[in-house]
Amino acid sequence: MPLISVALIFGGKSAEHEISIISAKSIAANISTQRYRVVPVYITCDGVWLSEGIARDILNLDLSALLRASSQAAVSSTLNDMVQQARQKPFDFDFKAAGIDVAFIALHGSYGEDGRIQGFLDTCGIPYTGCGVLASSLTMDKALTKLCAADAGLVVAPSITLFSADYHADPEAAHKEIEKQFEYPFFVKPANLGSSVGISKVHSTEALPHALESACSLDSKVLVEKAITGREIEVAILGNEQPQASICGEIEPGGDFYDYEDKYMHNAAKLFIPARIPDDLQKEVQSAALKTFKALGCKGMSRVDFFVDENSRNIVLNEVNTIPGFTDISMFPRLMEATGISFSELVERLIQLAQENSKTFNSIGL
Ligand SMILES: Nc1ncnc2c1ncn2[C@@H]1O[C@H](COP(=O)(O)OP(=O)(O)O)[C@@H](O)[C@H]1O
Ligand SMILES: [Mg+2]
Repeated sequence: MPLISVALIFGGKSAEHEISIISAKSIAANISTQRYRVVPVYITCDGVWLSEGIARDILNLDLSALLRASSQAAVSSTLNDMVQQARQKPFDFDFKAAGIDVAFIALHGSYGEDGRIQGFLDTCGIPYTGCGVLASSLTMDKALTKLCAADAGLVVAPSITLFSADYHADPEAAHKEIEKQFEYPFFVKPANLGSSVGISKVHSTEALPHALESACSLDSKVLVEKAITGREIEVAILGNEQPQASICGEIEPGGDFYDYEDKYMHNAAKLFIPARIPDDLQKEVQSAALKTFKALGCKGMSRVDFFVDENSRNIVLNEVNTIPGFTDISMFPRLMEATGISFSELVERLIQLAQENSKTFNSIGL
């Protein structure tokens, strides 16, 4: 059997650039070299594509150790130095000439998880892992995700959508309208970001302007959302037309909520697999996750996040992550592992699902 050539695409133009490199490293370490040939493709922060030598060197860096030992700025500057040396030989986007059979997208956030790279690969005729264009961009937008999921019968947190231009035109009117509709505390969040960037839990009138200004400076659309009580429960989904749900995992935030520091710096959040909820409730959450995956047209994989209250048994959809973290310690591979699918099996299944999907739905992007 000839080896299947996999372009492992990582880095990218999002705030999660470094996490993407660490995800790609885990994927590369878990891919069977007897069946696959990995062609690393590194996208710099400013959108330059680099392949082979330099991409492999970056993949081989121990970035987790570097991030622990120095600042993120120092890590960025190391990466920059390496890139400057390599830019004389730019990658020419010719996947066919490079013999690529399938792309493994190990990018997170904007430009990676939002349908843009998926559309690009569709136009190149290259099958890729995970969701297509529509599901990727839909789930990137928290307001549209909720609209579609609610239409499919899922429960979502009551919220209003605010346009940043309207807010800047008349902040006072926005403050009044929000206070009329919501009791403190509530959440303010940019519609299209991730990693908790720009998200605030607002406890008082005094804190409201700053929360809105910060979210409105990052996105043209912002959600104001009722604070939901309950455990944060996450389910990993794998498959195309007949997706499977993992057992449920639980995140216990270290602070007031699961914010950026908690996710990437303090490591104070606790992770529980399985989640600390009764079995029958776990089954209900799994079926809500599958229903969400199907309703939003997801393919390949997604991590579906909920708030679950074991007393009221309310299951509230929070959001869908179509390219969840893929490091050794990330929730998605750990949930799969706990469900009986090892990291290397997971990588293999995702590549197979990408190839199957491209045969069935050639370039429709759904
Ligand atoms: N409506 C809400 N009620 C309670 N907690 C919330 C709510 N919205 C967000 N949070 C908290 O903020 C965190 C990040 O919000 P989330 O919507 O998941 O954005 P991100 O895409 O950045 O992960 C959640 O994990 C949770 O801790
Ligand atoms: Mg989240």
